[in-house]
Amino acid sequence: MAGAAKMGPRCTMGLSNTLFVMALLLSGVASLKIQAYFNETADLPCQFTNPQNISPSELVVFWQNQEKLVLYELYLGKEKPDNVDPKYMSRTSFDQDNWILRLHHVHIKDKGLYQCFIHHKRPKELVHLYQKNSYLSVIANFSQPEIIPISNITENSDTNLTCSSIHGYPEPKKMYFVLKTENSSIEHDGIMQKSQDNVTELYNVSISLSVSSLDVTSNMSIFCILQTEQMETQLISLPFYIAPKIPQPKDYNLWIGAMLLTSIIVWALVFLLIRWKRKKKKQPGVSHERETIKEEREENEQTEERVKFHVPERSAEEAQRAVKSSKTPLGEKSATHF
Ligand SMILES: *[C@@H]1O[C@H](CO)[C@@H](O)[C@H](O)[C@H]1NC(C)=O
Ligand SMILES: *[C@@H]1O[C@H](CO)[C@@H](O)[C@H](O)[C@H]1NC(C)=O
Ligand SMILES: *[C@@H]1O[C@H](CO)[C@@H](O)[C@H](O)[C@H]1NC(C)=O
Ligand SMILES: *[C@@H]1O[C@H](CO)[C@@H](O)[C@H](O)[C@H]1NC(C)=O
Ligand SMILES: *[C@@H]1O[C@H](CO)[C@@H](O)[C@H](O)[C@H]1NC(C)=O
Ligand SMILES: *[C@@H]1O[C@H](CO)[C@@H](O)[C@H](O)[C@H]1NC(C)=O
Ligand SMILES: *[C@@H]1O[C@H](CO)[C@@H](O)[C@H](O)[C@H]1NC(C)=O
Ligand SMILES: *[C@@H]1O[C@H](CO)[C@@H](O)[C@H](O)[C@H]1NC(C)=O
Repeated sequence: MAGAAKMGPRCTMGLSNTLFVMALLLSGVASLKIQAYFNETADLPCQFTNPQNISPSELVVFWQNQEKLVLYELYLGKEKPDNVDPKYMSRTSFDQDNWILRLHHVHIKDKGLYQCFIHHKRPKELVHLYQKNSYLSVIANFSQPEIIPISNITENSDTNLTCSSIHGYPEPKKMYFVLKTENSSIEHDGIMQKSQDNVTELYNVSISLSVSSLDVTSNMSIFCILQTEQMETQLISLPFYIAPKIPQPKDYNLWIGAMLLTSIIVWALVFLLIRWKRKKKKQPGVSHERETIKEEREENEQTEERVKFHVPERSAEEAQRAVKSSKTPLGEKSATHF
């Protein structure tokens, strides 16, 4: 008898443990999966239909979390805060019509199992009527990924970029860059850097990329993509554009073209200047002719220096000859004029 008495408690403990595990397994199967956004409201359903149509004044309804802390209690039709854990005080509201307990300002820590219990209070006993388990998962949308150049982009240097996305939960699956040119699209996986806020438990994630200027031979658009767990969604950044830094052959041609155009204009100006001088010389009398020619020659020499073009000596002489030969038309013109 003594031996049996000693054995008693151990046996009972073993049995109750087994029952507890079985209950957990069963409840695990039966639990509803619910989801809530961080800092928003979670709906914890009870789904009680009250088939026996028992009056609320005879019911004891309460919710507890997986640590058996009470979130809310409705005792015989009245709210009873006595058993409610301080951390759930004024964070809940009960929707009596739908048997839903609303938990406001959900934290990441609130994820887990919740149980709704309903008991029938009879005169002498409390009869277990109903139980509903639900598993709450909490998610926070990551921000749209943003590509930021780390350092100033200078001539012929690498472009170092980071892409970051903040305040999300749970950890994202994957983060990568896509480098797009007219004809190609290259995926570039980076090593995801994670940091978790020790209060909110939200994650910040980032990846880095270094693009060599040598690899940028045509316009490139870079996108950053974050793949999250929930509903396999993808968040895509705005594009970051990189233009080739090495001058293109096309640009070089353009440059040569500009040089050619400039020299043509300069030559044309020189030509016009000579023509203008020639005409101007027609105006003064013949007596000034020698002086004017001398001036012109000097001026031509100056022009040569200024423009730094090799103007053949001949052109000045030609101009002189041309001026001399124009004497006759000048005379004729004067004659007709007078
Ligand atoms: C939670 O939401 C409230 C507004 O409803 C806002 O003021 C508060 O900053 C939010 N908290 C966090 C941690 O996002
Ligand atoms: C989170 O993202 C999903 C899908 O992108 C969207 O439907 C939902 O409204 C977002 N929720 C919040 C709280 O931003
Ligand atoms: C980039 O250049 C600007 C001005 O040229 C300067 O103010 C800034 O500090 C530079 N940033 C970095 C990261 O070098
Ligand atoms: C860019 O990144 C590469 C490789 O990570 C590094 O060698 C280089 O110094 C970085 N350049 C700048 C301007 O930060
Ligand atoms: C892309 O392909 C087209 C046709 O094949 C070609 O004409 C063009 O030069 C290519 N562009 C680049 C940047 O390689
Ligand atoms: C996440 O990013 C935000 C904005 O850049 C910053 O304020 C915060 O400190 C970061 N949190 C962590 C845990 O790195
Ligand atoms: C959060 O982290 C900071 C620095 O890493 C530390 O000083 C602080 O005590 C931490 N807070 C909590 C609540 O753990
Ligand atoms: C490259 O981009 C520049 C400016 O963004 C644009 O003017 C040019 O037309 C683009 N070239 C090609 C080949 O798309």
